[in-house]
Amino acid sequence: MEHVDTLILGAGAAGLFCAGSIIEADKGKPKQRVMVIDHARAPGEKIRISGGGRSNFTNLAAQRDRFLSQNPRFCASALAGFTPQDFVALVDAAGIAWHEKTLGQLFCDDSARQIIDMLLHRMRGAELWLETSVQGVSAAEGGYLVGTSRGQVRAKNLVIATGGRSIPKMGATGLGYDIARQFGLQLIEPRAGLVPLTFAEQDLDLCRPLAGVSVEAVVSHGQGRSATRFRDGLLFTHRGLSGPAILQISSFWKPGEEISVDLAPDLDLAAALRDQRGQAGKQGVATALGRHLPSRLADAIAEEMGLKAARLADQPNTSLTKLADRVNRWRLRPVGSEGWRTAEVTLGGVDTRDLNARDMQARNQPGLYFIGEVVDVTGWLGGYNFQWAWASAHAAAKAI
Ligand code: FDA
Repeated sequence: MEHVDTLILGAGAAGLFCAGSIIEADKGKPKQRVMVIDHARAPGEKIRISGGGRSNFTNLAAQRDRFLSQNPRFCASALAGFTPQDFVALVDAAGIAWHEKTLGQLFCDDSARQIIDMLLHRMRGAELWLETSVQGVSAAEGGYLVGTSRGQVRAKNLVIATGGRSIPKMGATGLGYDIARQFGLQLIEPRAGLVPLTFAEQDLDLCRPLAGVSVEAVVSHGQGRSATRFRDGLLFTHRGLSGPAILQISSFWKPGEEISVDLAPDLDLAAALRDQRGQAGKQGVATALGRHLPSRLADAIAEEMGLKAARLADQPNTSLTKLADRVNRWRLRPVGSEGWRTAEVTLGGVDTRDLNARDMQARNQPGLYFIGEVVDVTGWLGGYNFQWAWASAHAAAKAI
């Protein structure tokens, strides 16, 4: 039987960062024994593939309004306690070159691997058991007893950093949720987030032949002032729609609901087409549309509206308005999402009402902590989810 001060389950972003933060805080003090356990062959696998291999490791705008949770205020304290600038200071100290892409999103210039190496370097002194499965967890005198494929480990503090359900092929399991339930914490039903949306046959008639075409769009969900809107890339796929704007809105969408897409943002297309009709009425409708949209998309929409061979000059205002509505206010109802297989994150998770916002400790279970994606706090696309992993891990480490 091994005895440790802190056992962390999960060697992903949150688990590695938590171990490093405990070790760092211990400098000059009697050392704690810290162990991290993961069933994967390598640590930080999702970091490795993140940001197309360059890891979008934080976002400068990481405030609580960029996160979804049943309790939107919960994440504020941890986010204030460890900011994007704090993480950038570590990245700079490690000599990792980075750049800001758009909207405060920070990426490595070279490789996401550098972030993993930095995290591993920072937690030197902690033990890392890989390819180790967890067989059971129980409360024991003064802490917790964890059965593993390498034997039993007794720990004063147990930190659950096993992430969400997204991408089971990369090691995601429901272990964190099972442990939460076992100790009487409630769960907000986990569901796939930041995920491509799928559509019924009638919409696929348009999407499928356009697979690979991308366009800048505004995608919205909800009505009026409470509507959520994202302006970013939209990509047609064989199963429906993807691209950053769709991934963002997928976290807000629920089955049965509609989304609305503006394929030509900032453009009053009806007015533009009326102008074009006045100036060059002989041109085809598809050609006229092609001035504002990728030509394959323009052709497909003109065909769908029965205007493939039509001349602009022959179209009355009502027809141009209908066409413009189709482009500026395309309403459609996804039938589902591509699910856990491709989702970048998991919405829902351990109910924040059962956790202390200051240190992520279970209210009813001293010494048991939940950090990172396993908690019901989910960021927008763009580096927010890693910032939550760092910030929640730091909050727990400070209390340990
Ligand atoms: P994470 O999933 O990182 O780690 C959990 C660990 O627990 C894993 O190592 C897993 O093997 C282990 N584990 C699970 N079950 C276990 C069990 N039963 N026994 C033992 N170990 C177990 N975010 C962002 O901010 N910027 C970005 O660029 C990206 N890009 C991105 C791309 C892709 C393809 C994906 C899938 C995700 C992203 N993300 C992202 C999201 C980000 O990767 C994610 O939010 C964090 O990795 C969450 O960190 P955690 O440590 O909570 O879980």
